[in-house]
Amino acid sequence: GKRILSGIQASGSLHLGNYLGALKKFADMQGDDAERFYMIADLHAITVWQEPAKLLQQTREIAACYLAAGVDIDRSTIFPQSAVRAHSEMAWLLNCVARLGWLDRMTQFKDKAGKDKERASVGLYTYPVLQAADILVYKATHVPVGEDQRQHLELTRDVAKKFNHDFDTDYFPIPETLYQGPGARIMSLRDGTAKMSKSEPSDNSRINLTDDADTIASKIKKAKSDADVLPEDAEGLESRPEAKNLVGIYAALAGVTVADVLRDFGGKGFGAFKPALAEVVVEKMSPISVKLRQLIADPAEIDRVLAKGAERASAVADPVVKDVKKIIGLWG
Ligand code: TYM
Repeated sequence: GKRILSGIQASGSLHLGNYLGALKKFADMQGDDAERFYMIADLHAITVWQEPAKLLQQTREIAACYLAAGVDIDRSTIFPQSAVRAHSEMAWLLNCVARLGWLDRMTQFKDKAGKDKERASVGLYTYPVLQAADILVYKATHVPVGEDQRQHLELTRDVAKKFNHDFDTDYFPIPETLYQGPGARIMSLRDGTAKMSKSEPSDNSRINLTDDADTIASKIKKAKSDADVLPEDAEGLESRPEAKNLVGIYAALAGVTVADVLRDFGGKGFGAFKPALAEVVVEKMSPISVKLRQLIADPAEIDRVLAKGAERASAVADPVVKDVKKIIGLWG
């Protein structure tokens, strides 16, 4: 059967990029009879320093984001990664399958470790193997993510193939990555060549899930654009990163194609387009921020959701670890 797994790190509040690249897809993919597992990656978060007093709260907040975005616990399982021991156990087993050379090529480690890589945690280095474990421990077949996760997903597929090859089995399905559509790579509102991200210092560079309508409208108004009118077709956006990003956001949120947006706005300037964009963003995002605030006010309910989710997830993941140990020839 079809099994979907994805996750979001428990490291700070979420933005429009996380929504369009991940959360919205999670909510939209609930129509068929797949099994769905959405985790809060708190074990990944601690690959860089996290304040212990804040980490649990961050985990609850990501859970609230899932719920506010429309992930339905009757059709999807939401859980904290660290509450399902099978992830850590599988990560060790897969550390012995993944090759050093593969991890050496991971660009995220180079970006996050910076110049002084001697001082980076070992966990930051082996981060992609834990991600492979997250996916393979459910024998997941589909992984919806934003475009920035492409390299990690390639590594996951390589790990699955090598395991199957080394142990002469077809135990792991090779998971398919789902990052199609205009939401797969949302850029900063201040710089159309940089990814929208929580680590960018300027808050005006992103729309947070917690922003209210006025804040959203003001950020769109201030967003970097250019002096030209919008083109008649998508090709005309190619050398205009800011214009391309804003049109892409409109398309992704309104659920239309870039061509549809340009049919309406081609030949018009940003003076006309930005207010229309602000309206769409406010219309789609402010109900989520309202819901989010309500959910965060009731942490006990979130904790119940997560406890139940962890139990359901463990019931699926534990037997997979058992099988894999047996295939490898381990005792326990
Ligand atoms: P994270 O927490 O950085 O991001 C969560 C999701 O949001 C997507 N995303 C974006 N999409 C479009 N435009 C952007 N500007 C943008 N920024 C972020 C990410 O692609 C991701 O889908 N390593 C993962 C978490 C993880 C995971 C997993 C994902 C851990 N285990 C297993 C899938 C499967 C991460 O740090 O995502």
